[in-house]
Amino acid sequence: MSRDLDDVLRAQLGQCLAGTSLTTFAHRPSIERYVGKVRDCYIDRDAGERILVCTDRLSAFDVVIGTIPFKGQVLNQLAQYWFEETAAIAPNHVVAVPDPNVTIGRECTPLHAEFVMRAYLTGVTSTSVWRAYERGDRTFCGHPLPEGMKKNEPLPAPILTPSTKAAKGDHDVSVSRAELLASGVISEAHFDAAAAIATRLFAHGQALAATRGLILADTKYELGLDPDGNVVVIDEIHTPDSSRYWYADDYAERLARGDEPRSLDKEYVRRWLVGEGGYGGDGPPPVLPDEVRLEAARRYIRNFELVTGRTFEPDAREPVARIGAALDAS
Ligand SMILES: Nc1ncnc2c1ncn2[C@@H]1O[C@H](COP(=O)(O)OP(=O)(O)O)[C@@H](O)[C@H]1O
Ligand SMILES: [Mg+2]
Repeated sequence: MSRDLDDVLRAQLGQCLAGTSLTTFAHRPSIERYVGKVRDCYIDRDAGERILVCTDRLSAFDVVIGTIPFKGQVLNQLAQYWFEETAAIAPNHVVAVPDPNVTIGRECTPLHAEFVMRAYLTGVTSTSVWRAYERGDRTFCGHPLPEGMKKNEPLPAPILTPSTKAAKGDHDVSVSRAELLASGVISEAHFDAAAAIATRLFAHGQALAATRGLILADTKYELGLDPDGNVVVIDEIHTPDSSRYWYADDYAERLARGDEPRSLDKEYVRRWLVGEGGYGGDGPPPVLPDEVRLEAARRYIRNFELVTGRTFEPDAREPVARIGAALDAS
C-alpha cells in the first residue's frame, strides 16, 4: 500500500461517515428512515425504492463497534462491482449508484432467512460451522460433516446453511432447510428459488476470487421479493462484511502449520475484539484503537483492489453534503 494512501487513511480517522440524517429530498416527498447497523436506509414507498447509504460503521457480533476510514465507499463500490458482474446469473435490486457511498435499490420484501454458503470449516461466532464442529456436532444445518477435520479445512462440498433473521439486537441462528420450512417463515418455493440463486452466485464468486489469488471461504446472501414476486438479491453481495476472504497463496502452508489464514475481511477486527479486546459479544464493545481501524481500512481497500483489479480512489469530500447533493441530482 502506498505511503500516500496511508496518509489519506490517517487523515480520515476523524472524518469517517458515522451516520446521516437526511430530511429533505428534492424529488421524493415522503421518506421513511431505517438505521441499520451499517447502512442508513431511506425508503420511498411511492417510487418503490430504497436509498441505501453505506456508512463507515463496522458491526461485529451484531453490535456496531466503531468506524473504519472509507469502509462505506469500499463496501458500496464492491457490491456495485459484484452486482454488475453477476447480473446475468441472478437478478438484483440495483437501480442506480448515484454516489460512492449510495446505492438505490428497488424496495423488496425480504425473505425471512439469510442464505449463507460455506466452503470451509471455519468461523468464530456461535452460529459458525467451526464452533458447532468443535462442540462435537457432526451434522450442521442438515449436512453431515466428516470426522477428523481440522479448523479451516475445505468442506467436502459447499453447503447452504440458512440462518434465521433475528430481531434487531438479537443473534441469528443457523438452521436446516427442514427446520426453516417447518417454522413457516418462508415458503418452499421461495426457499428453493433463493437456494438455487445462492448456490449459483457462490460458485461464480469462488471462481472469480480464485483468479484474483483469493479464496471466497463463505458468504451470506439476502434475498427479497420484488413487486412482481420474483426472488432477487438485495442488500450487498460478496463484500468483506458479508464474506470471508483468504489469500490463496499461503493458505495450504498456514493450514499445515495450524496458523489462521491471512484474511481480507472483517475477521481481522473480530479476532482483535476476541483477543486483545477481550470481547465475546456481550455488553459494550471495547474502543477500537486507531491502528486497528487503519489496518482494517487497508484490508478492505486491498480486497477492493484485488477483486476489481482497479485502484481504489478515496473520495475524501465531506460525505453528508456530497450525498445530499448527489441524491437531489438523481
Ligand atoms: N432492496 C431492498 N429491499 C428491502 N430491504 C432491503 C433491500 N436492500 C437491503 N435491505 C435491508 O436494508 C437494511 C440494510 O442495512 P444494514 O445496515 O445492512 O442493516 P442490518 O443491521 O439490518 O443488517 C437491511 O435490513 C436489509 O435487509
Ligand atoms: Mg446487513
